[in-house]
Amino acid sequence: MYYVGVDLGTSAVKLLLMEGDGRIVNVVSKEYPLYFPHPGWSEQKPEDWWSAVMEGLKELTKDCDKSQVAGISFGGQMHGLVILDKDDNVIRPAILWNDGRTQEETDYLNNEIGKEKLSKYTANIAFTGFTAPKILWVRNNEPENFARISKIMLPKDYIAYMLTGSFCTDVSDASGMLLFDVEHKCWSREMMEICGVDESQLATIYESYEVVGTLKPQVAAELGLPEHVKVAAGAGDNAAAAIGTGTVGDGMCNISLGTSGTIFISSKHFGVDSNNALHSFAHADGKYHLMGCMLSAASCNKWWMEEIMQTTEFGKEQAAITDDRLGKNHVYFLPYLMGERSPHNDANARGTFIGMTMDSTRADLYQAVLEGVAFAIRDSFEVAKSLGIDIQSSKICGGGAKSPLWKKIFANVLNIRLDIIESEEGPGYGGAVLAAVACGEYATVEEAAAKLVKVVDSVEPDKELAARYEERYRKFARIYPTVKELFPEIS
Ligand code: XUL
Repeated sequence: MYYVGVDLGTSAVKLLLMEGDGRIVNVVSKEYPLYFPHPGWSEQKPEDWWSAVMEGLKELTKDCDKSQVAGISFGGQMHGLVILDKDDNVIRPAILWNDGRTQEETDYLNNEIGKEKLSKYTANIAFTGFTAPKILWVRNNEPENFARISKIMLPKDYIAYMLTGSFCTDVSDASGMLLFDVEHKCWSREMMEICGVDESQLATIYESYEVVGTLKPQVAAELGLPEHVKVAAGAGDNAAAAIGTGTVGDGMCNISLGTSGTIFISSKHFGVDSNNALHSFAHADGKYHLMGCMLSAASCNKWWMEEIMQTTEFGKEQAAITDDRLGKNHVYFLPYLMGERSPHNDANARGTFIGMTMDSTRADLYQAVLEGVAFAIRDSFEVAKSLGIDIQSSKICGGGAKSPLWKKIFANVLNIRLDIIESEEGPGYGGAVLAAVACGEYATVEEAAAKLVKVVDSVEPDKELAARYEERYRKFARIYPTVKELFPEIS
């Protein structure tokens, strides 16, 4: 049988066709536009996602025996607000996970409702990218749109709804809404009241590996797929990526270098970081996880290369950053091109170069960009360490993990071993695995991960280089506190 994983990302949707034994048969990617209507705002059209998914599904399955396609599931960009009216029209473009417009609503939630209450209701506090502050923003700024809301959805759930007609979400993605009681896996009455939302506007909650429905007849006909293809709830992209890299069970770690950068620690038990610097979310394996998320990771690399250097020759540009230069760069870069989430929670933070001299080169600045992203992940890694979590190694996935240079920088900045798995398609592979579990091919997500995920390579830190990076990280960590007062004026 075949299983489809749909990774609904920020730059594109990546679709993957997997055989029951885990072999990847085909991968297809379709891009769609991303809109920045104001500095720090970020939107996409759900209709664009839908046509890209339909086109992608057709291309993905065109050469396979379609009668053998058994299941579809997702890893989706998290936190985005999709709102539909009573006739299922999309009311306004989706406000995405990296949108920083909700500072006022976030401050209201954290300061007036209070972090303690938020953490009690949901296990988390408010961040500008989370869904609840966006709902409040629409209520405050677009009351006519707010009044029309019949359904509130997350990005991948819009696709599941269009495919099946089932108004559903999963526990991992719901965790990022700040409307969900993560510990008890149900909607929070208190948060619904605070946001002026009724439970009928919120989706039915499933575990990520549960079936939410089958294809609508007209969708099945258009795709040429059987109507009995099962659709499983799927997961937020980080939880799906964690499944795709075998980060399940207790104390496993995954680093994802996509548009965002995340550090994800799986746990069998529910737990909250007392400062709420790390998110406490449900996992797609039925358990829980802690996560730190930086808003611009591989996107810093893309921005530097494509916008600033005006080139796409990533390999050539990285070749200039030779081994002897690592750990010696005196240029630093704060990678806050869209503000920052973990651990600073500061939508006003901005990208910053510091430390250049007359002899600084193009390669030094590029190196600073790559190192700045690794240092920013180290910030969240430090929070995890302060909670007593002992991380000796991590998986790494996402577009950024294709660069050997960047992996080496990460291994040495974090001073841990990085394990590389056979498939780099983290969320898409995780989505396909969830579909396979939902269809009964595997009994549990843990069993599927143990059978399917294979480590094929590792990057070990080098003692001397790690020590040099340790010193540099200490300096990096002092830059943001020194300049942060300036950011609100600059932005
Ligand atoms: C996680 C987060 C991002 C998006 C990216 O909290 O906001 O990783 O899910 O798609």
